[in-house]
Amino acid sequence: MNNQDIINEIRKKTDIVDIIGEKIPLEKRGKNYFGVCPFHDDTNPSMSVSREKQIYTCFSCHATGNVFTFLMNYEHKEFNQVLSDLAKRLGITLNGFKAKEMPSKYKDWYDIYDIANKFYQNNLMSREGTDARNYLEKRNIDQETIKEFNLGFSLKDHDTLTKLLVKKGYSLDLLNKVGLTSNDYDIYHNRLMFPLHDLTGRVIGFSGRIITPGKQNKYLNTKETELFKKGRLLYHYHIAKEAARISKSIIIMEGFMDIIRASTIGVKNTVATMGTALTKEHIKDIRRLSNNIILCFDGDAPGIKATLSAGEAFKEEGIETKVIELSGDDDPDTYILKNGGAAFKTLINNAIYFSDFKIKNISSNYNFTSSEDKANYIHEVMKEIIDIDDPVRIEIVLKDLAKKFEIGYNTLEKSFQEQKAKNSKENIKKDIIIPVKQPQQEKKDKYQKATLAIIYYMLNKQEIIDLVESKHLVFPTGSLRALESEIVYFYHKYGFINEADFYTYLAPKQELISILSEVMSLDLNSNITKEDIMDYINVIKEYNLKNEIKRLEQKINETTDQTLQIKYAEEIRKLRIGES
Ligand code: GTP
Ligand code: MN
Repeated sequence: MNNQDIINEIRKKTDIVDIIGEKIPLEKRGKNYFGVCPFHDDTNPSMSVSREKQIYTCFSCHATGNVFTFLMNYEHKEFNQVLSDLAKRLGITLNGFKAKEMPSKYKDWYDIYDIANKFYQNNLMSREGTDARNYLEKRNIDQETIKEFNLGFSLKDHDTLTKLLVKKGYSLDLLNKVGLTSNDYDIYHNRLMFPLHDLTGRVIGFSGRIITPGKQNKYLNTKETELFKKGRLLYHYHIAKEAARISKSIIIMEGFMDIIRASTIGVKNTVATMGTALTKEHIKDIRRLSNNIILCFDGDAPGIKATLSAGEAFKEEGIETKVIELSGDDDPDTYILKNGGAAFKTLINNAIYFSDFKIKNISSNYNFTSSEDKANYIHEVMKEIIDIDDPVRIEIVLKDLAKKFEIGYNTLEKSFQEQKAKNSKENIKKDIIIPVKQPQQEKKDKYQKATLAIIYYMLNKQEIIDLVESKHLVFPTGSLRALESEIVYFYHKYGFINEADFYTYLAPKQELISILSEVMSLDLNSNITKEDIMDYINVIKEYNLKNEIKRLEQKINETTDQTLQIKYAEEIRKLRIGES
């Protein structure tokens, strides 16, 4: 079997509905399955997955593809990795298989970070790493954990790493660019080193922590580079991916040490930012892991503030997070050290809703001495629960309020319903003012539309390929013609065609993939007759005829030879009456 055969084989034996269904909940509606698209911010089930065609299509963001592209985008993996994962799942061994590696512009960068990572790890185990090892021991970080997190140590001297990398042939210019060197010197000295990984698990930078208190910043991060962006990076994401799938939840913490400590008790579905607030990109990437999101920040005032702002940020995206509250001077690291793993797991199971956390925290802004103060508080609480779908939870909150302020439940309930009605009216108004953005689609003429339909049917009914070939049609644009010839090529080479396998085959040709995606997201009638197809074909024929006439007319204009002019005119006449 050649490579394409192996790829097709693995694709054929894998059911896209099973694979996507493991990542996002799918619901069957008619022939297809529907779920919330993970590739854009959405809460509606706009992604359709077809078992019959083995493709997915999002009607909102137009993401489309087959099982390979889904996994590549969803898990941030390379094609080869996805292929071998699926092969393993099927129990197929990929003997000597090597799909073409996509050459990475950043190969040298990744190699440099790998070398540095190993260098730091070796230092930690060497004589020079004694202080750092003692520091880790004092913090109860054992050997196994050091290995698991690839912790390392940067030496006290000036330029050992820079020299090592220069000796290996990397230019100082590049070393400056990747953020490990500055003016011939190492950036990191005498720090405990934490490698930072991108979403797929490649090292793209470091964070170094001081091991003796001093004037320097506690942590020093690699500067922002083309690969390392603070607003994008989530510490431990590449490990949390798998863990979140199993536990069906993801916990966000503040510090590296919290993540590392939680890992020692087997809680690995955790991520942390680089000490910054959550960005939209962070939220998007976290949501990809699970919609069951738990915030577990430090128990101090900044931790509460961070919890409130993170919870709000998720709420804006339509998600209510849960919250684990720690007391005043604890963070997850110290809590686990003091109370043990079982106690922390109990906290996870008892995480409260963000709205309950917020209601508790709102009350500290009020002193409840005046009736106005009380009423303001009550209305603020109501605003907080207005989006909650669960009537039971709403009743609990309202009953608590009724008891606390000795107000009749009915009064509160009535006021709540009024506020809710007002709120939804305002939302409708907002919708009118802010139109929903539709992706800009180029206007297509009838010839292009007919061509897209023909291509759609070529991919779904093989006899249409023969039909189209026999008619010698010329499709309107260069890329449509290129796509057609690829379809014909694939079909003759493999003896079959379907959207899912053809998609894999075409993947390296990005300019054609975007048209193919457009074709795949068409949802045309599958009970089409030959007459319907002929209608489309005739539209293209009309187009070809028009072009041919235009070409002949131009020739007439270009020549002064009268016999030639008569000859062309005769040809045009014949074309017009359809003799040719
Ligand atoms: P420990 O103090 O060793 O327990 O570390 P920690 O990881 O728990 O850190 P902490 O809770 O103090 O801070 C949370 C996160 O903020 C850290 O993991 C860092 O990402 C970031 N951070 C803290 N201090 C600094 C600093 O001095 N500089 C930078 N750039 N980031 C910092
Ligand atoms: Mn901390």
